[in-house]
Amino acid sequence: MASGNSPLAGRHILLGITGSIAAYKAAMLCRLLKTAGADVRVVMTPLAKQFITPLTMATLSKNPILVEFFDPENGAWNSHVALGEWADCLLIAPATANTLAKMATGVADNLLLTTYLSARCPVAVAPAMDLDMYAHAATQQNLRTLAARGVRIIEPAEGELASGLTGKGRMAEPETIAAFVGGLLDEKKKTLEGKRLIVTAGATIEAIDPVRFISNHSSGKMGYAIAGELAARGAAVTLVSGRTALETPVGVERVDVLSAAEMYEASTAAFDGADGAVMCAAVADYTPAEVAERKLKKGDGEMTLTLRRTRDIAAELGARKGKRVLVGFALETHDEEAHAEAKLERKHFDFIVLNSLRDAGAGFRGDTNKVTFIDRTGREELPLLSKREVAARIADRIEQIMERSGEKHDADTAPAQSRKS
Ligand code: C5P
Repeated sequence: MASGNSPLAGRHILLGITGSIAAYKAAMLCRLLKTAGADVRVVMTPLAKQFITPLTMATLSKNPILVEFFDPENGAWNSHVALGEWADCLLIAPATANTLAKMATGVADNLLLTTYLSARCPVAVAPAMDLDMYAHAATQQNLRTLAARGVRIIEPAEGELASGLTGKGRMAEPETIAAFVGGLLDEKKKTLEGKRLIVTAGATIEAIDPVRFISNHSSGKMGYAIAGELAARGAAVTLVSGRTALETPVGVERVDVLSAAEMYEASTAAFDGADGAVMCAAVADYTPAEVAERKLKKGDGEMTLTLRRTRDIAAELGARKGKRVLVGFALETHDEEAHAEAKLERKHFDFIVLNSLRDAGAGFRGDTNKVTFIDRTGREELPLLSKREVAARIADRIEQIMERSGEKHDADTAPAQSRKS
């Protein structure tokens, strides 16, 4: 994220760290906030020091770390009131069940909690704990209480936990948290407020039998980055997702599907009432004509699978689109531009995002992409960028198209007289 454009640039973030094994991620989080241009001060609970050293956090935040009410060396008072006033946002990540419970009941037995009680800025917490602690009625009640008081909860993810168990309770990834805080501070940039958009992402899975399937290498990263960017700009986003291991971006409604047929149903249903769609998914073009009910057994000879065509979701939305925005993707290995231009027309896209497997740093799995935008007026070749940056450029274009069609609509509906003047 270029710091100049970031909503975090120049903002004061007070980062609270509590005693959870996830505290190690606070180091990366602090670095991301700093890179985006934020001024970060860190308050740790006494127990947090057991998980990550104040030296690490002081080095990364470039500010002294605050833990106690008084500086033990010189007795100077660490003013929680002044800290609360300084902060544009108080972010507690990781937030343990213990700290959340104390916040909900107003206990003030450490510097972080007194700061929370006196802070008037937006407050966000990223819970991190074992799955049973997270699911416990007491924790859930505390989270509801805090949410009702305006505290923003950054949902934990499902995954492997420090206890060795797997479930919900893993702190959200630093990138997700930084983006969330950016969105929180970015009241001005809600440029897509009131718009409803669909994003398809990831690979589809076409069953051959109960065990095997046909799929592809798409990771879903590009589509997830787009969904997150559109949501951060205020759009209501439905992410129709094939199977991925990615976290749902903050503020995005996710619909999980497996096959191309399921993706077709979910996408066409969501398109009614939407203002546009970005077709980023790698959808299977062919699916087994029949799915074997039982596992296919191997024989001695060759085996032939009969495949039939799937329905083209993008083409269907293109046929229905009217004045709505439709963005397509084309991943090509040869004759890239000719293929992309043909798809632009055939599927009625407003523009198509072309990436070639021939470009280094483009395509599957990676965090970067090298794309060219093609529309009916020409082409724009972008340099190698992070997928998040590519997502921002796509969102910019969507905004421009919506603005233009809004202006056209205004002109078309304006009274004849005023149109002349
Ligand atoms: O024709 P091709 O599959 O290369 O077109 C790619 C574009 O069409 C992408 O935007 C992809 O998401 C979309 N697509 C789709 N449904 C299909 C096949 C492709 O939405 N069945």
